[in-house]
Amino acid sequence: MTIDPKRRKQRFSDNFYNTTTYIGVVLSLIVLFSETILFWVDFFSPSKSDYIGILAYLILPPLLVIGFILIPLGAKWKRERISKGLEDKTRKAIHIDLSNPKHQNALMIFLFVTIAGMLVAAICSYKAFTYTESDRFCGVACHQIMNPEYVAHMHSSHAKIKCVECHIGSGAGWYVHYKMAGVRMLLKKIQGTYARPIPTPVTTLRPAKEICEECHWPGKTYNAIQIKRTYFADDPSKTPKWTIQLLMHIGGKSKDSSGIHAHMYNDNEVYYAADDEKRQKISWVKTVSKSGEEKIYMTKTSPYKDKAPAPSKIRKMDCMDCHNRPAHHFEAPEVLINRALEDDNISPTIPMIKAKAVEVLSKEYKSEGEAVEKIESIITSYYIKSQVKYYATHQQKIKEAIAVIITLYKNNFFPEMKARWDVYPYDIGHRISNGCFRCHDDEHQSKSGEIIPRACTTCHTITEQGSGDNIQKNANGLDFQHPFEDDGSWKTMNCSDCHNGGA
Ligand code: HEC
Ligand code: HEC
Ligand code: HEC
Ligand code: HEC
Ligand code: HEC
Ligand code: HEC
Repeated sequence: MTIDPKRRKQRFSDNFYNTTTYIGVVLSLIVLFSETILFWVDFFSPSKSDYIGILAYLILPPLLVIGFILIPLGAKWKRERISKGLEDKTRKAIHIDLSNPKHQNALMIFLFVTIAGMLVAAICSYKAFTYTESDRFCGVACHQIMNPEYVAHMHSSHAKIKCVECHIGSGAGWYVHYKMAGVRMLLKKIQGTYARPIPTPVTTLRPAKEICEECHWPGKTYNAIQIKRTYFADDPSKTPKWTIQLLMHIGGKSKDSSGIHAHMYNDNEVYYAADDEKRQKISWVKTVSKSGEEKIYMTKTSPYKDKAPAPSKIRKMDCMDCHNRPAHHFEAPEVLINRALEDDNISPTIPMIKAKAVEVLSKEYKSEGEAVEKIESIITSYYIKSQVKYYATHQQKIKEAIAVIITLYKNNFFPEMKARWDVYPYDIGHRISNGCFRCHDDEHQSKSGEIIPRACTTCHTITEQGSGDNIQKNANGLDFQHPFEDDGSWKTMNCSDCHNGGA
């Protein structure tokens, strides 16, 4: 079959029949085809990815634009060539002769390449999508930036919950918001201008109601839960361990509306304004009852004494104001070492091991490599120099302890991103950082003289405490006795005035 260029039904001007335009058409078709698949998968997938957008919205669209530009550009070039007399106007019109084996082959190759190209594009798009959905992508593709959160997440009780489920979730508004955030983040990574450490709180985080309450429902009564803690002194080989058992009154929407979770679910809503970015200093707290009655608690030094905080500074208290590290809890050295000693991963028979381990974990290092080297050398040289007799017979035990300390370091300290426990304080509790005592310190007073209580029985009952042969037990509650040495200063000072979790 021969198509006579004069007789052929031509839909476009002759100028459009040229190689550049053909490339533009094929490129546009492949991109359009991939985009259709991407949009389709992306739209109907139950959870949304931050990074599918990088492909669908960042990489492919410019290619599509290039394809679109090539189409008229080819035509323009051809017109110019014709007007300059470089090309014959009709020469380039398509001429296909299917009885000609050369044309048959060319056509086969053209069809094969186009179909294969589309298939590959489709498979790549789908693969890229599933990969960008995975935690590995969030944690590893942005390797250095997200690595601390990725590693901490792997060890959290939410390890099975994907990054995207807390950080992105459903809803068109958040989807677009995070798509843009993801693109901005990628650009920052390329330029190397991202902040180290990544600042928190994440002010743009979706409301807790949309994240946590998909799975948890604290409006349902929680009973008290029992917490048992074991503590070791600086030299666990000489001083017996100390244990404390606490009954945490979690509570919720029970009849008497008492307990910790009552913060969100009893008759009052709690609002606060923080003095600092990290929300660690709180001097202004407001409760609003169901009937609309407001009560304001302030410290004596509050900057809001004369003027209420601007509405943009006021935050309604939700899950994240206590559970601020549900998936990325970088643990403090003391906590890590107490646990390792309790589990006998580090032997409590090694003299001074608690003090030395906490000391090396608390030091700041430039890189993980340096940390590993220094942890080993500091501890080894201490035992060689100061515990000569012990070292002579227990080298293996010390080696094993060092290996455990290094593993704990790698899982909780990220010097390249400056991520560690004291940079990201945990707001549950009050010993290592102020946590609950940010408000519950007896210092926040209302006009009528009410305070936000610091009394030790407000939130928990101590049912057991002590060490060795001297363990007190009482299901109705015990007066706190400070471990190891008690000079009573905890009654007037904040725990975090002396404690910081490290050395
Ligand atoms: C259970 C919910 C949850 C999951 C799952 C989760 N995150 Fe988070 N993430 C949070 C919350 C809540 C914060 C905010 C902490 C704050 O504002 O103080 C946060 C903060 C962050 C931050 C800011 C820095 C910081 O440490 O506060 C990064 C980065 C981050 N998450 C990355 C990730 C990555 C990567 C994953 C998956 C490997 C992930 N997140 C999984 C809840 C989650
Ligand atoms: C997709 C479901 C899901 C979401 C969303 C989720 N959680 Fe959880 N959470 C779980 C499961 C399942 C467990 C139990 C894990 C276990 O016991 O091993 C859990 C455990 C917990 C615990 C008890 C264990 C601990 O780490 O202290 C707390 C507290 C908690 N979640 C708070 C939160 C908060 C706060 C959020 C919102 C930022 C949240 N969760 C979002 C499913 C979820
Ligand atoms: C006023 C602080 C505070 C707020 C606000 C708060 N919690 Fe808690 N929550 C606690 C404390 C304290 C515990 C006791 C566990 C502990 O000490 O780690 C707890 C325990 C839990 C547990 C574990 C219960 C168990 O049986 O192990 C879950 C799940 C939980 N909270 C979810 C939530 C969710 C979801 C929200 C938001 C709707 C929320 N919490 C708001 C302080 C709070
Ligand atoms: C932003 C300030 C703020 C923080 C932080 C805070 N609270 Fe509160 N809390 C309040 C206020 C205000 C009240 C009084 C609420 C009311 O009157 O409805 C209260 C009341 C309580 C009560 C009930 C007290 C009673 O008299 O029955 C418990 C229990 C409690 N909080 C536990 C906690 C725990 C546990 C934490 C830390 C994980 C915590 N709170 C952190 C502001 C705070
Ligand atoms: C506003 C609530 C609240 C008040 C008031 C309070 N605590 Fe606590 N306490 C907590 C919470 C929450 C935890 C953390 C439990 C956890 O680590 O999961 C905690 C933990 C502890 C622990 C274990 C500490 C650790 O780091 O292992 C001790 C000991 C303790 N409290 C003693 C006291 C004493 C003594 C007082 C009185 C001066 C007091 N608490 C007042 C809420 C409170
Ligand atoms: C005046 C300073 C000071 C104050 C205030 C203080 N502590 Fe301590 N605390 C210490 C010292 C010092 C040790 C270490 C004792 C040792 O190892 O021999 C210690 C040890 C502990 C331990 C064992 C720690 C571990 O990891 O082995 C716990 C638990 C503890 N304190 C709880 C508290 C609580 C809860 C409060 C607040 C209610 C508090 N402390 C207030 C100085 C203080």
